[in-house]
Amino acid sequence: MNDKFSVPEAELARQREYTELVRTVLSSRFPDKPPKAFVHTYGCQGNVADGERLQGILAEMGYEFTDSPEKADLVLYNTCAIREHAEDRVFGNAGALKPIKKLKPDMIIALCGCMTQQASVAERLKRSFPFVDIVFGTHVSYKLPEFIYCALCTGKRVIDVTDSEGNIVEGLPIKRDGTFKAWVPIMYGCNNFCSYCIVPYVRGRERSRDFDTVLDEVRELVQRGYKEITLLGQNVNSYNKDLPEEKRFPALLKAISEIDGDFIVRFMTSHPRDCTKELLDVMASSDKIAKHLHLPFQSGNDRVLKEMNRHYDRKKYLELIDYAYSLMPELSVTSDVIVGFPGETYEEFRDTLSLIEKVKYTSLFTFIFSPRPGTKAYDMYDPVPREEKGRWFKELTDLQESIARKRTAAMKGRSYRVLVEGRSKADGVLSARTEGNVIIEFKGDESLIGSFVTVEVTEPKTWVVYGEYKG
Ligand code: SAH
Ligand code: SF4
Ligand code: F3S
Repeated sequence: MNDKFSVPEAELARQREYTELVRTVLSSRFPDKPPKAFVHTYGCQGNVADGERLQGILAEMGYEFTDSPEKADLVLYNTCAIREHAEDRVFGNAGALKPIKKLKPDMIIALCGCMTQQASVAERLKRSFPFVDIVFGTHVSYKLPEFIYCALCTGKRVIDVTDSEGNIVEGLPIKRDGTFKAWVPIMYGCNNFCSYCIVPYVRGRERSRDFDTVLDEVRELVQRGYKEITLLGQNVNSYNKDLPEEKRFPALLKAISEIDGDFIVRFMTSHPRDCTKELLDVMASSDKIAKHLHLPFQSGNDRVLKEMNRHYDRKKYLELIDYAYSLMPELSVTSDVIVGFPGETYEEFRDTLSLIEKVKYTSLFTFIFSPRPGTKAYDMYDPVPREEKGRWFKELTDLQESIARKRTAAMKGRSYRVLVEGRSKADGVLSARTEGNVIIEFKGDESLIGSFVTVEVTEPKTWVVYGEYKG
């Protein structure tokens, strides 16, 4: 256990006492049927994993869940701060709760997560959103029982956005959203301070969960029948980076791939600076490790990468990709990319396009630069107008679309082992995902959901391919 970041056991015990107190209060206030909670998580899978712990705590306190805020006795928004747009959505959705709260004054409204961790946002919520009862940040989310107790019993607003280096809390109950796909955080926080990014400010310092604790969690999930495990961290390649090699990420991935059972393991996100050939060797060594590498490059231009504080250059990135393809010719590579970083010129942006052409990504998450208060890039000179950036963005997405179309066209006639994830929109059609993260739809029986099947691709489109069930 990483003692520096662990929360004292006495504090966790105190929260368990609050859980019991809330349980008692709720059972007397809701004698006929249990209260309902609506929990919505924005942002990355790491936040989703946090949300599953918050749901776990709520379930222990006696809440059941609903998918509509109107029917809820407690609404919890677990927010994201990565781009301005993400924050605007939360402000909008929180504002929409005001009339509901008017009709149901006893409803508790709580906001937490990366957005509320920022003092300026907490201040705005305090001032302009008086109907929000609880606001808490990422470092104190294990105190949810105490916060709910306060709101239920004192009626006072609770605002706790204490900043800290972060913590690791083990042993919290987890109510997972999926029954065959699971998120497993292996580390929290980030030390990279990419100049555009808010995450290090709202998530604290990088810290890794204990090797054996992670291994045990994955083993248990596999035993319970989970088919896809995704290991999560902002930079999984620096997992346990201060410990000997046998405890670092390649070793963890290898150990997980050696667990008995029918499952695949994925991981995200890999930072190119810390991605090693050894990691790619481990990937290539096991059929249990999905042949999918999410390796964000952000920009194809060295000057921009330097300004972004990414600590790798185009050459190093392409070397890693070449090595990865040489080991795993079928590898699917995806990435994140930012268009219009402050001061980026069109010529520099073209380096991003040429890198995309070289790597031939399966898909890309594409973002227009969004200034985040408090980050270094927020104050950088940014002369290119938004409309111009919009045109570059379109150029990029058009290019990626043509690459994706060619990639999926090459899948025609081939068979893939896929995990069936659910129903598609069309009647009787199922939606599945290949190891490489391509969606395949095919006609099949719903009993197949949650299992691995083989599907032959018959009709590839750009972002989805259609296929035929082969067993
Ligand atoms: N830790 C991961 C990224 C997490 S954030 C990594 O380093 O790769 C997910 C993505 O959001 C980033 O990769 C980046 O492309 C994008 N992003 C982060 N901050 C942004 C900002 N201020 N404006 C636009 N996109 C941003
Ligand atoms: Fe943000 Fe960079 Fe950390 Fe990723 S590595 S979370 S982009 S600061
Ligand atoms: Fe958003 Fe926080 Fe994740 S800012 S992307 S939810 S770490």
